[in-house]
Amino acid sequence: LKLGIMASGNGSNFESVAQAIKNGELDAKIQVLIYNNTSAKAAVRAENLGVPSVFLDHRKYKNREEFDGEIVQTLRQYDVEWVIMAGWMRLVTPILIDAFPDKIINIHPSLLPSFKGVNAVEQAFAAGVKIAGCTVHLVCLEMDSGAILMQAAVPVLPNDTPETLHARIQVEEHRILPIAIALASQHNLHQLNKYTQ
Ligand code: GRF
Repeated sequence: LKLGIMASGNGSNFESVAQAIKNGELDAKIQVLIYNNTSAKAAVRAENLGVPSVFLDHRKYKNREEFDGEIVQTLRQYDVEWVIMAGWMRLVTPILIDAFPDKIINIHPSLLPSFKGVNAVEQAFAAGVKIAGCTVHLVCLEMDSGAILMQAAVPVLPNDTPETLHARIQVEEHRILPIAIALASQHNLHQLNKYTQ
């Protein structure tokens, strides 16, 4: 499996995929990390892991389509088959979606379809839910709405803050993302995504 990872920030999920590969739990190779913020810790992790990384600055493009065009070109250049969004904080366009049909995966820190969008953990916390979690899903045009591949739940504990809750959710993110990638690659997901589009 030739993976391309897209990350905007910390990159702990990127690292968990790299670890799973190293440990022999996921039969894959990370061809490239694409990041869009110079301060993204993901870039430092890539360097430490010996993964090639490419910085693409969305601020330099006229619109989302042009930016996505550059992303597609980079992914092709690195011979990527599956695209993993691991904390990618940009909305995507058909340019990217259509270039990798049913082969783009995202991880989101809520039990979708609840709490889409940014600040999902804060939203869940503010709603007072007692069970929170994370979702790995296929990416479609509508944000955080593609077919669900895998979910994991965690309890919300009495003394939690959004930060402690997010940390508990991230433990599960790191566990399920590599598994979901392996599962996704073993199935024909075309049918699955149809139900949600
Ligand atoms: C994760 O919580 C993920 O669900 C969301 O962004 C966060 C990225 O975390 N999409 P990290 O950069 O992988 O540490």
